[in-house]
Amino acid sequence: MFFSAIIHLLLSSVLTRDIGAKPLASPRVGRVISLDRSSRKTHLRPMPHPSSTLPLFYPDPFITRECRGLRRKYLNVSDNLALPSGFEIVSTDSEAPFIPPVVIAPHVFPLKDYYSENTDLEYYGIASFGTPKQGPFSIDIDTGSADLWIPNNCTECKDGQFKDTKSSTCKRTDKSFSVCYGSGEVSGILMQDVVSMAGLKVYDQFFGAVYEISDDFLGLPTDGLMGMAFSSVAQSGERTFFENLLYNNMLPARIFSVYLARNQEDGSELCFGCFDTTKALGAVRWVKLLSKTYWSVPMNRISVNDTALIDVELIAIIDTGTTLVYFPDDVASDFYSTIPGSKPAPQYGSEFYTYPCSAPLDIQFWFGGQSFDMSNLDFNLGMTALNSPDCVGGILSLDSDGFPPNLAIIGDEFLKSHYTTFDYDGRVGFAPSINNKN
Ligand SMILES: *[C@@H]1O[C@H](CO)[C@@H](O)[C@H](O)[C@H]1NC(C)=O
Ligand SMILES: *[C@@H]1O[C@H](CO)[C@@H](O)[C@H](O)[C@H]1NC(C)=O
Ligand SMILES: *[C@@H]1O[C@H](CO)[C@@H](O)[C@H](O)[C@H]1NC(C)=O
Repeated sequence: MFFSAIIHLLLSSVLTRDIGAKPLASPRVGRVISLDRSSRKTHLRPMPHPSSTLPLFYPDPFITRECRGLRRKYLNVSDNLALPSGFEIVSTDSEAPFIPPVVIAPHVFPLKDYYSENTDLEYYGIASFGTPKQGPFSIDIDTGSADLWIPNNCTECKDGQFKDTKSSTCKRTDKSFSVCYGSGEVSGILMQDVVSMAGLKVYDQFFGAVYEISDDFLGLPTDGLMGMAFSSVAQSGERTFFENLLYNNMLPARIFSVYLARNQEDGSELCFGCFDTTKALGAVRWVKLLSKTYWSVPMNRISVNDTALIDVELIAIIDTGTTLVYFPDDVASDFYSTIPGSKPAPQYGSEFYTYPCSAPLDIQFWFGGQSFDMSNLDFNLGMTALNSPDCVGGILSLDSDGFPPNLAIIGDEFLKSHYTTFDYDGRVGFAPSINNKN
């Protein structure tokens, strides 16, 4: 039986408590659906850069840190994906009900894009905390974690800090709080207060009031972070901001949708409880979640040019808080071996590969048996040197030293090709993004 097999796997992984590097319970990809490519493909136009205008690759410290930090962010992923009892597992073979998309303009929440050279590093929005309102604070929007935090009495942090003593509605707890992320770690204590974002207000929202922050976070444009995954993986164990909006019946649908613009500070957005049809070029295709923990979906294939097909059995986490795309090292190596002339690029780190800039590529990721394109504009991170024939590829390789050998992290690089809808009832929807126009 599917369920008892899963429970067995979950229990054994909880009991053995390995650190990270073992495979996660099988994603149960099941049958690979044969499909008529012409009707299912999203038809992104190929967008090779004319090589004269290709940017130079800049090994941004943000990216270098992300490679290191992802191991920490997903350190306990096997424990987390192995659900503690009491959380619901969404069966991959039952149809989730269709919720018609809606647009509610007031809940469209602008995001800013922090980008460097040609890489979109981080997307963030504005929130305020406390009574009277403190802020505006810049908050990283992260679907790859489930805690909210803001600095408070943090000596090394910059100005954007909450002051618990200045808020009449702030409730302190005596619980400590700490979380690791791809880009660093934070610790502090758990508090509750009013939090507002996008004109939506949650009273007694739990968050970490953080007084210690690793160096990695200093120098970023953001003050705090909002986790948008399921609270089953929250360090605090408390409902997320989005879950509180649902709990208080403040949204017309149990979804949020994310549009990530490319290389421009303004224009990105988060739609709470809605689907903004002006950000999509076509229909949504849904992929059922493996579990209500992370936004995790089964990944069964990677294809290049419709000719090279690499069949995989990966658990893919859809993570707006990660900049690039990360595969286990053997999968990354199989992927690059389909591109003649590609090679590892240890000069940037063990995670990197280069490939011939002139090779126009048509890359697809297959989730739950459906294929989704990733634009070359995002895959190509730039030339290794001026007029070099080699470009750095945006698919990075993580060895199993602290990273499960069947986990893929699908970051902003892929999500820029798709307007993405996160349905709390157990699925993720991808519609071709307006970024794919012209
Ligand atoms: C923050 O600092 C203020 C003033 O020093 C102090 O009263 C308050 O208790 C501190 N808050 C925390 C959470 O440590
Ligand atoms: C991972 O789990 C261990 C043991 O439960 C815990 O001490 C640690 O804080 C967790 N680390 C992260 C990054 O969540
Ligand atoms: C992909 O297709 C393009 C155009 O058809 C071709 O130029 C390129 O060499 C192909 N790349 C690979 C890796 O097959």
